[in-house]
Amino acid sequence: MKILVVHGPNLNLLGKREPHIYGNVTLDEINGRLKALAAELGVEVSFFQSNHEGELVQKVQDSMGECQAMVINPGAYTHTSVALRDAIASTGILTVEVHLSNIYRREEFRQHSYISGVAAGQITGFGPESYLLGLRAAIQAVRAASVQ
Ligand code: DQA
Repeated sequence: MKILVVHGPNLNLLGKREPHIYGNVTLDEINGRLKALAAELGVEVSFFQSNHEGELVQKVQDSMGECQAMVINPGAYTHTSVALRDAIASTGILTVEVHLSNIYRREEFRQHSYISGVAAGQITGFGPESYLLGLRAAIQAVRAASVQ
């Protein structure tokens, strides 16, 4: 099983960026933890980060037929991007949306996600652990779908 992990804008700055909200763990460390968990669970993971909406849309399109599921933290595009939502809906790729912070405890503009309506589910508020829970959820959802 191949799973793509996508990180949206500004997540390359994790560790330095607003640590009181997002903590001290860097994106490389998160990817390292995901890689270790993937190995333990017997799946392959690949990673993609971009600060550009079009590049994220393109990557989702390109992942069609290449991987069975995607774990995505769309960053601020969560709250703005109909294009990213449409890409996920168009490819039909099983998607788990994750956030480090609990978006429902933050500013009102963060409390709406364009992505959640096309995602299998959402995990929000557990820091880096959100990604690990997201990976487990994605694997389980793919396995459940394949025995139906
Ligand atoms: C975020 C929450 C978003 O509102 C914000 O724009 C981010 C990070 C999170 O992981 O908590 O960039 O997706």
